[in-house]
Amino acid sequence: MSELRPGNLLFVCAESAPWVKQGGLGDVMGALPAALAALGPEVSVVLPLYSAIDREKAQLKPLAEIPVEFLGNSFPTRIFTCLLPGGKGRALFIENQYYFERQGVYTDPASGEGWPDEDERYFFFQLAVARLLEDGLVEPELVVCADWQAAMLPALLRIRYRENERLSRMKLVMSLHNLGYQGVFPAESIDKLELSRELLFPLGSFEYYGQLNCLKAGISLSDRIITVSPTYAREILDSEQGAGLDGVLRQHQDRLSGILNGIDTTTWNPSKDPHLAATYNANKLNRKSLNRRAVLEAFGMNGDFEGPVIGIVSRLTDQKGLKILAGCLDRILSRDMKMIILGTGDKTIERFLSDASRNHPDSLGVRIEYNEGIAHLVEAGADMFLMPSLYEPCGLNQMYSMAYGTLPIVRETGGLKDTVIDFLENADKATGFSFKGYNAAELLDAVDLALSAWKKPRVWRRMQKNAMKLDFSWQSSAERYMEAFRGLLAEA
Ligand code: ADP
Ligand code: GLC
Repeated sequence: MSELRPGNLLFVCAESAPWVKQGGLGDVMGALPAALAALGPEVSVVLPLYSAIDREKAQLKPLAEIPVEFLGNSFPTRIFTCLLPGGKGRALFIENQYYFERQGVYTDPASGEGWPDEDERYFFFQLAVARLLEDGLVEPELVVCADWQAAMLPALLRIRYRENERLSRMKLVMSLHNLGYQGVFPAESIDKLELSRELLFPLGSFEYYGQLNCLKAGISLSDRIITVSPTYAREILDSEQGAGLDGVLRQHQDRLSGILNGIDTTTWNPSKDPHLAATYNANKLNRKSLNRRAVLEAFGMNGDFEGPVIGIVSRLTDQKGLKILAGCLDRILSRDMKMIILGTGDKTIERFLSDASRNHPDSLGVRIEYNEGIAHLVEAGADMFLMPSLYEPCGLNQMYSMAYGTLPIVRETGGLKDTVIDFLENADKATGFSFKGYNAAELLDAVDLALSAWKKPRVWRRMQKNAMKLDFSWQSSAERYMEAFRGLLAEA
């Protein structure tokens, strides 16, 4: 079996913590490469150099300048580098003032919409990565392409660079974090990559109802497809969760698997989290209530409240189940509890939640913003954490919650199903509450059950301890990735 040697893994992604993070993809693209680097191989991560990245704080150093041919021009492109967290492996940043130095990573803050030239932004990025590979500035044996923003790289390497023996030998892994975002663009968009429009023949690997579908191309042209939980890997083979790509996924099913994400336990650890009002562990759970007070006050609510608090930290999109929450929010808020919600996203959802908190100022606190520190404080200060997702490829917040002794209430889908042990299923081992149907009635029942369990301190404490005992650290997931990578490298 081929061993992974130094110089052999490259992650290509649109975001990576701690430098830039918009959601779980950033968390995973920060922690997974570092966890793999700790196991031996040399790992690089490449991402765009957005203006949101603080060059000084990240201690970026110039590495090279390469020409990137794009849209008939040659862009002299500077590459910067720094070490990965943990000191092993390196991150590479691709500079382009026009495409990446804007306020807002994916969306234009003025309109709240995605940047209208997002195809060009990430095509430029991927062409620059291909050029890095061509010039040997990074020489991986295996390249992991995360989500649609990196999903045309397989096409570039397998088609435009097919004469280059070194590049065509590289193994390619498509890493699927969310089928809800596929990178679908008008057919002529493919010209920008100098790939033939003939590739867009009906039902072919690139075509989707007459348009270019980047994710479909990535799925079709890579050697392996890895998604972020075993349940999601099964669910996406059906039309209900396949987001229109279930057919192509079924076709490549033998190359598809699911490996559960881990969590970065250096950042998400209640015993040493600098964002908390009071650190604690499973033996000092009484201190958790100091965080309840702090978080209620941070949401402008009465910190003396001693009843249960339900927290949400979320991108505000339909994926996250806010529709069914809206269907029972008034009834939840009529119970003896308080709810706090931190999130940004869809403007209609933002408005709905802000209005609801104005109508229920004592029981609902809402902060429409992206705030890392408050996200940590919610995890620590809430008693329960709600994730009623329509679908959830993995979900990290339920794992953060369990690590913080904050019991998750989740809909049984994707990674939520793989990580939360339901109270009704196994009372002794339970770590949270889950419900099946995507509807407000089942969500309300699960919340009511959690609220009644909270009133039984011995039951609650046992569940908190069960949850805090679970090991969601990256180590075992990273080993699974290594196993998959080794298997792939051993193939002819
Ligand atoms: P997704 O990637 O679909 O958004 P995950 O549960 O995998 O869902 O990860 C979400 C990540 O983004 C978590 O680390 C969460 O704390 C963070 N996050 C989401 N919204 C906010 C926000 N408004 N402020 C701070 N962190 C947020
Ligand atoms: C996506 C998914 C989320 C997952 C994250 C990291 O954004 O929505 O479920 O945890 O990617 O893999």
